[in-house]
Amino acid sequence: MRVLVLGGDGYLGWPTALYLSRQGNDVGVVDNFARRQYDHEMGVESLVPIRSLKRRVQCWEEVSGSRIEAFVGDLTDDGFVYRVLTEFSPDTIVHFAEQRSAPYSMIDRSHAVYTQVNNVVGTLNLLYAIADIDPSIHLVKLGTMGEYGTPIHRH
Ligand SMILES: NC(=O)c1ccc[n+]([C@@H]2O[C@H](COP(=O)([O-])OP(=O)(O)OC[C@H]3O[C@@H](n4cnc5c(N)ncnc54)[C@H](O)[C@@H]3O)[C@@H](O)[C@H]2O)c1
Repeated sequence: MRVLVLGGDGYLGWPTALYLSRQGNDVGVVDNFARRQYDHEMGVESLVPIRSLKRRVQCWEEVSGSRIEAFVGDLTDDGFVYRVLTEFSPDTIVHFAEQRSAPYSMIDRSHAVYTQVNNVVGTLNLLYAIADIDPSIHLVKLGTMGEYGTPIHRH
């Protein structure tokens, strides 16, 4: 199966890509490195150094013999999303590519707006690209309530 992992440079995305690749799937990853920028902006570093996506892809090929194709770009760029889906032609997409941190989204107005636009527009571009290019693509979407800021209350 051809599987595209969005947010493939991230905490969940990279191990998911390795797992799927080891199972024999053709795996592609998409990321814009926004997460690395947040750390830089906040002046923090991961406890364990995280190598560049390019280096990680190389290492995986060395140890497994399998190639993971990397696409660098932003899901809020509709042209990029349509190009990647057309070029990679996935059977399934796993979508992790969002700003996940509620505290980050609450820093101030601009961080709240960034989080909303990034998470909602990125996902909308993806949904429209799937509908326009190949509606048979399966979508697995991971997300937490903190991403959208509006909890759903059921009474
Ligand atoms: N980490 C957890 O324990 C956990 C638990 C439940 C749900 N989730 C959800 O899973 C998803 C991934 O979480 P994570 O912990 O791997 O986060 P993460 O920040 O490590 O990974 C997300 C990746 O997406 C990329 N990204 C963000 N916006 C993008 C955009 N517009 N275009 C392209 N790439 C973009 C980032 O650069 C990053 O590499 C999030 O939606 C999160 O809410 C995470």
